[in-house]
Amino acid sequence: MTTSLITGATAGIGAAFARRLALEGHALVLVARDEKRLEECARDLRDEHGVRVEVLAADLSLDEGIAAVEARLADRSAPVDVLINNAGFGNRGRFLDASIDDELQMLKVHCEAVLRLTTAASEAMRERGRGWIVNVASVAAFLPRGTYGASKAWVVSFTEGAARELVGSGVRLMALCPGFVRTEFHRRARMDTAAIPDWMWLDADRLVAAAVRDLAVGKTVSVPDLRYKAVVALARITPRGLFGTLSTRMGRTHGPKRT
Ligand SMILES: NC(=O)c1ccc[n+]([C@@H]2O[C@H](COP(=O)([O-])OP(=O)(O)OC[C@H]3O[C@@H](n4cnc5c(N)ncnc54)[C@H](OP(=O)(O)O)[C@@H]3O)[C@@H](O)[C@H]2O)c1
Repeated sequence: MTTSLITGATAGIGAAFARRLALEGHALVLVARDEKRLEECARDLRDEHGVRVEVLAADLSLDEGIAAVEARLADRSAPVDVLINNAGFGNRGRFLDASIDDELQMLKVHCEAVLRLTTAASEAMRERGRGWIVNVASVAAFLPRGTYGASKAWVVSFTEGAARELVGSGVRLMALCPGFVRTEFHRRARMDTAAIPDWMWLDADRLVAAAVRDLAVGKTVSVPDLRYKAVVALARITPRGLFGTLSTRMGRTHGPKRT
């Protein structure tokens, strides 16, 4: 049986991956911080799809949390075939609004954890000659958008490079670049989303369906939905300053500071 490990599996895009992979009969390892919520999600998935579901409570902003997931991925007695590096968050406001600690925490979750978990999974997968890894980035990777966009640009670049070096090994990597998706992300970051028009919002289940199709055909970078393919294409040909001004204004306006 195929086993998939998903970080940030209890909400939003990660939960949509969990539903989709359970529907396909995958055994799951769900990772997030909130243990009670992990257990509830696992129970629902077992009840609905009859698959085996493990939970692993881990905070990927901490060394011990990353190490616990690395150890699970390295366990040769219970191999993981598919890794979805999805856990992530936003910091409210613009540069200098967020504390340096919050920004460093973002780099730890978006970059260090993704590097370490991709490495642990790739090593084990290469030995077996098969495995798939999806690193969830963002359309923000293609736009100047503070630490968030920079961290996601790293995810895209890292994934493209690693994918190239693993060609022929049986290990396939893909960076998934969503636009705005209706999840808990913006509420958690206390971002004001009033300026984001309805047409820009994506549905998490449809996004995941498109991602799975792109993975199956061997794409290394997936930008689901025509609207966002157009945004990325435009960002590539438009002067960076112009797109940066628009991007910096959307979804980043002030609200109360995170406590
Ligand atoms: N929503 C969007 O518009 C959008 C757009 C582009 C890209 N993305 C990216 O998509 C990914 C998923 O975002 P989402 O929108 O689905 O967010 P979400 O609804 O807020 O869900 C976030 C998930 O990550 C977990 N998580 C957060 N911090 C964690 C940590 N330190 N350690 C372990 N788990 C952690 C959360 O559970 P716990 O709180 O229990 O840990 C939750 O399961 C992120 O990488 C995000 O950057 C989102």
